[in-house]
Amino acid sequence: MNLEVDGDRLSREIEELARFSDAEAPAVTRIAFTPTDLRARTWLISRCQEARLAVRQDPIGNIFARWTGSDAAAAAVGTGSHIDAIPNAGKYDGVVGVLGGLEAIRTLERGRFRPKHSIELLVFTSEEPTRFGIGCLGSRLLSGTLTAEAARKLIDKDGASLEEVRQRARLGGVLEEVKLPSGYYQAFVELHIEQGPLLEQQKAPLGIVTRIAAPASLRITVEGAGGHAGSVLMPDRKDALCAAAELILAVEKAARTSGATDTVATVGICEVFPGAVNSIPGRVKLAVDLRDTDLRRRDRVMWAIDAEMERIAAKRQVSNHSEVVNADAPAECAPAIIEALSASCAKRGHKFIPMVSRAYHDSLFMSRIARAGILFIPCRNGYSHRPDEYASPEDITRGVRILAETLARLAE
Ligand code: GLV
Ligand code: MN
Ligand code: MN
Repeated sequence: MNLEVDGDRLSREIEELARFSDAEAPAVTRIAFTPTDLRARTWLISRCQEARLAVRQDPIGNIFARWTGSDAAAAAVGTGSHIDAIPNAGKYDGVVGVLGGLEAIRTLERGRFRPKHSIELLVFTSEEPTRFGIGCLGSRLLSGTLTAEAARKLIDKDGASLEEVRQRARLGGVLEEVKLPSGYYQAFVELHIEQGPLLEQQKAPLGIVTRIAAPASLRITVEGAGGHAGSVLMPDRKDALCAAAELILAVEKAARTSGATDTVATVGICEVFPGAVNSIPGRVKLAVDLRDTDLRRRDRVMWAIDAEMERIAAKRQVSNHSEVVNADAPAECAPAIIEALSASCAKRGHKFIPMVSRAYHDSLFMSRIARAGILFIPCRNGYSHRPDEYASPEDITRGVRILAETLARLAE
């Protein structure tokens, strides 16, 4: 089959989508359900309709764009990723899997491939945790990992509930309807930039993911005592930020001393209340992101952080409250998908390396309901979650060709 990927159009579409942003270019900020995200979704839906795909949205806003196969009742083959972007991000994270997935479908159509199984492009809602504090919201609900009841309790950082946000986005239906019936997908393949430096360093054009690391996140509140920055003497203080500072270093140390470089921990959010230069911080909220390829080691580090938090709180006479937002198991990619991707690379003459995904992806949750796998393409210097994230048109086009070839194998 002739697989002619229209790389020029795909590059133009990536640029167009990047213009839906709340940050100045080259940065992209596109938080789930903001007016900018909603406009981007409308644009994307019209692209899918132009490709004659049947489009639907579920009650959490996951978008499904289907190319119906000759056996319409057979389980579908899914591909896709996300278009939401964290603050000050780049234009490729998630987008390559969505627009690349769409281009893979168009490439197969142009190559006169006729699928037996329907091929469906999926655009997952809020893969990024920015809005509700939890990542992969759409795929967690689709896979039944997060219940509708638990999702209804989610509140965004401005105090709006998920239900309010859904209503404002005019998403009908109830969250119970999001979970997919079992057997809906027979396979799911996600194309994504690597978000790390290995492909570039090893001069490999493609990576086939075998395993996705186990992510966890914690929300920690440290309560001290506020007061006047001039008149409360040092021995009398219960400065919440000083306690939080110790805790942040303890998080770093716990990851650094876990015994493996696979453990990573980050405190990416630190909110100080009341946030005035002449006021002792009375309350601090931290968000901790913790990951490892090994679940037990990840959990040991999580407990070590808990123990340090107690020690620091006692020493500094502050109180603390910690909540586990999510603590997910790692995922193994399905051997059948790894094989299909490998066979596609071999057929097209491309070298690949097997890889672990240290970033999480919606495939982490899709793997619970379908045979799932991920294809990585290189990104410059391994940069991601920053405005200078970059993947070359050649690398993207190659990835899309292998994705198209793999979808064809799975859908015939
Ligand atoms: C996904 O964006 C991640 O943080 O791994
Ligand atoms: Mn991301
Ligand atoms: Mn991503």
